[in-house]
Amino acid sequence: MDALTFLLNDHAKLRSLFQSGVYAPLRDELVKHVNVEEEVLYPALMKVPELEPIVLEAWEEHNLCMRLLQELDDMTEEDDKYREAKFTTLMKMTLEHLDEEEREMFPLIKKFSNEAFLNEVGEQMRTHKKKTDPDEVLYPEVPESHRPWNVPEEA
Ligand SMILES: [Fe+2]
Ligand SMILES: [Fe+2]
Repeated sequence: MDALTFLLNDHAKLRSLFQSGVYAPLRDELVKHVNVEEEVLYPALMKVPELEPIVLEAWEEHNLCMRLLQELDDMTEEDDKYREAKFTTLMKMTLEHLDEEEREMFPLIKKFSNEAFLNEVGEQMRTHKKKTDPDEVLYPEVPESHRPWNVPEEA
């Protein structure tokens, strides 16, 4: 599958998960999408000087999305009144990010790459995404037994 088709499929999935409003599957899919772009796509694009500025900006937007996801993960029932505001902010930012990639980044990718590049990167993304664990991506320094939502409340 070529890279742009792969990304458009991922974006469509994310849009529909946001529409459903259910947090857990959306969170996992968003983390995996961000990760596959940061680990495979963006480094490949950065080799083209003309693409560097737009990739760096997209990368910063990813950082903000991941920060909001971590904060949403950390919320307790007492934070319920903030949850919707945070989720809505995440949704607006992410949807804007997806639109921008499609509107501004994808045409540049087409302009500065070729079919072989797109096929190779698409294949690498497909393989990488399959073996991604969203928790490991969000909390790389935290052992599995101590992920925030697994820590027992202090007595
Ligand atoms: Fe992105
Ligand atoms: Fe994307």
